[in-house]
Amino acid sequence: MLNNDPMTRPYSSVINPKMLTTPLSHAGNSDIITVTKPYLPPLEEFIPYLEQIWENKQLTNNAYYHQRLEEALASYLGVPYISLFANATVALIVAMQALRVTGEVITTPYSFVATTHSLLWNHLRPVFVDIDPVTCNINPNLIEQAITPQTTAILPVHVYGYPCDHQAIARISDAYGLHTIYDAAHAFAVNDNEGSILRYGDLSVLSFHATKVFNTFEGGAIISHDIKTKRRIDYLKNFGFADEVTVVAPGINGKMNEVQAAFGLLQLKYVDEAIARRQEIDRLYRQGLSDIKGLRLLASYVDDNQFLQSNCSYFPIFIGEDYPISRDELYEKLKQKNIFSRRYFYPLITELPMYRAIPSSNRRNLPVANQMANEVLCLPIYPGLSDEDVLRIIDELVV
Ligand SMILES: Cc1ncc(COP(=O)(O)O)c(C=O)c1O
Repeated sequence: MLNNDPMTRPYSSVINPKMLTTPLSHAGNSDIITVTKPYLPPLEEFIPYLEQIWENKQLTNNAYYHQRLEEALASYLGVPYISLFANATVALIVAMQALRVTGEVITTPYSFVATTHSLLWNHLRPVFVDIDPVTCNINPNLIEQAITPQTTAILPVHVYGYPCDHQAIARISDAYGLHTIYDAAHAFAVNDNEGSILRYGDLSVLSFHATKVFNTFEGGAIISHDIKTKRRIDYLKNFGFADEVTVVAPGINGKMNEVQAAFGLLQLKYVDEAIARRQEIDRLYRQGLSDIKGLRLLASYVDDNQFLQSNCSYFPIFIGEDYPISRDELYEKLKQKNIFSRRYFYPLITELPMYRAIPSSNRRNLPVANQMANEVLCLPIYPGLSDEDVLRIIDELVV
């Protein structure tokens, strides 16, 4: 049944995605602006995919669309092997199992809870290291001093899609014989001079959650670099089955189903346009907000170098003491104006009950992460956000 409620109506019913870069005027100045809205392709284009699934009668277990999406994504992202998952959280849990990570894992407190929850689900001990104020990513200069004889891996996050200092991290992991698993949940289609940043580390984990740049409603993936590792990951996400009668590990059910995979194939047709519109919004925000006292932006990852590509998945701003009101007052003020920003990532993971007793969670160990968490506000950014709405948000911030 079609949803005619304008508040929850899918974006595609308001704006033709083929015109993403020129949103229709009536889509502008909407009453309520949420921090994000999922991108949805035209519904009628999805029907033939569903008809095919009904005909195939294979709903899951590495069927037709699953295989096609793995091929299409590997080619689009420029990576050798990809294993699709039901979501990124289960993919992170499986990534640790695939590499037989044990003991302690060095990671960042400045992320979504799933990053470190994946360690607890594997009975691994997180060791938190502070972040770099320029990128909000783990500070590689602080990693070495956190290594103990129990350390077996590093779990950095490309926060907001900003690339980690992969060279410094690789130097440390090579020297100490550690695995590196990147939480790349925010890093779909982010490229540096040589290609996708997903090629770094042993494994990278993507999220295709509804709110992400590329979504399959729920979904995720692990990028690996050799066929042996891909096979092990594929066994682990399918209960450990290597063939009909051989179970090689106590695997889990982490499989992506055919409806999600088919939807992903259709989404892929639109993802470049969706990212292009995000980049336009990013530019508009930067023009409007770059000179406000007490308000700091992260440096743009996109510069004139055509090889760099940011996906503009988030637009974080940082509210310092020189700004006339506090971060939380600004958050409330925007809410009063029907603009719903989000404090990603606040509270810090290390402030949560299951992590705060860990010695490395001590605030004195994490001054930058604590400051960033107290100052950050993520502004609305999604392909259907009109120029008028971006200007309306900027107007509220210019004080
Ligand atoms: C950094 C990070 N890691 C992991 C996840 C978990 O992804 P999923 O919702 O697909 O399980 C998310 C967000 O949703 C995230 O932002």
